[in-house]
Amino acid sequence: KTLESLGDLRGKRVIVRADLNVPLDGTAITDDGRIRAALPTLSRLVEAGARVVVISHLGRPKGAPEDRYSLRPVVGRLGELLGQDVAFATDTVGQSAREVVAGLADGQVAVLENLRFNPGETAKDEADRLAFARELAELGDAFVSDGFGVVHRKQASVYELAQLLPAAAGELVGTEVAALRKVTEEPARPFVVILGGSKVSDKLGVIESLLAKADRILIGGGMAFTFLKAQGHEIGTSLLDGEQLETVKGYIAQAESAGVELVVPTDAVVAPAFAADAPATVVAADAIPADQMGLDIGPASTELFASKIADAETVFWNGPMGVFEFDAFAGGTRGVAAALADAPGYTVVGGGDSAAAVRILGFDESKFSHISTGGGASLELIEGKSLPGISILEEDTK
Ligand code: 3PG
Repeated sequence: KTLESLGDLRGKRVIVRADLNVPLDGTAITDDGRIRAALPTLSRLVEAGARVVVISHLGRPKGAPEDRYSLRPVVGRLGELLGQDVAFATDTVGQSAREVVAGLADGQVAVLENLRFNPGETAKDEADRLAFARELAELGDAFVSDGFGVVHRKQASVYELAQLLPAAAGELVGTEVAALRKVTEEPARPFVVILGGSKVSDKLGVIESLLAKADRILIGGGMAFTFLKAQGHEIGTSLLDGEQLETVKGYIAQAESAGVELVVPTDAVVAPAFAADAPATVVAADAIPADQMGLDIGPASTELFASKIADAETVFWNGPMGVFEFDAFAGGTRGVAAALADAPGYTVVGGGDSAAAVRILGFDESKFSHISTGGGASLELIEGKSLPGISILEEDTK
């Protein structure tokens, strides 16, 4: 269901579940990509004369208020981007929220405090989630689900709330789903996938499903060292997901029998410690010294990966190649991002760290076909899982 299905929204209180979970340094926003991604829906609702009530989580507070997870820093930036004042409620469903919502005029916008300050938002028990969703529903006449980054979560504001009010998907959810389906459903070939990030265990499902779909899978980031270990190499003090070692060996065998090219780094940038100023050296992937840890893929690997991306018709990239936050270990991530930016095919950057890396490293976002705002959500969609926040919008619950 799209926004049109909600009819004329002038004067109506429309609750928008956005994902404004942006990275913060204190109260400074280090990447405002998710706020910008919320604008198409919010601007449309403002133009339609709706009274817009934005709800979101930030971080993972445990069901009670914590200053460092307040959404307050997000409100000013949202106001700047929207070009109008945005009100802020210091609670989510309490007196402040009720007053702020009651005070909205047509076309005005308010943000309520972090949903996860309320235990009902993430409660395991469905009845608790439903009770909290009922309190949220009192604040609106219609619901727009636009927090793509969180649609894989069965949480009160994502799942239960959608059953209590007339509900529709927002612009961002629509765009994200279309872009990611284009990658998984009959991708133009060669279809190349680049996976990075620290933990293999976060990527198990997606690797399994891609082994049946991709032509090439390039493995970088911290997780590459578990692959190197599985191939029998010593990896020094690099990150090792020991529990997944056997599974990874299975993937290597599976890729071979399925004719999928599985590419692992041939060299690495290593250092004696995880620190920005640690002395970095480049070594071959089969010669990592016992007292050193790999913090990036090496220049030869970066070149190899770039050559595997250059002729791709479809590319999906999730997870940085190294500790890109430290300049000495940003080369792999920068090189892969540059290869995607130059690739003529359809290029999708999965959300989370890789999307942040593209922006933090200063790439022109228009060089990529799609930069997702969802980390876990985009992976689960690629994996072919049904996402609660999407499937509930497809059902007729009201
Ligand atoms: C994300 O950062 O991937 C989304 O905002 C979801 O956050 P969560 O993993 O804490 O549910």
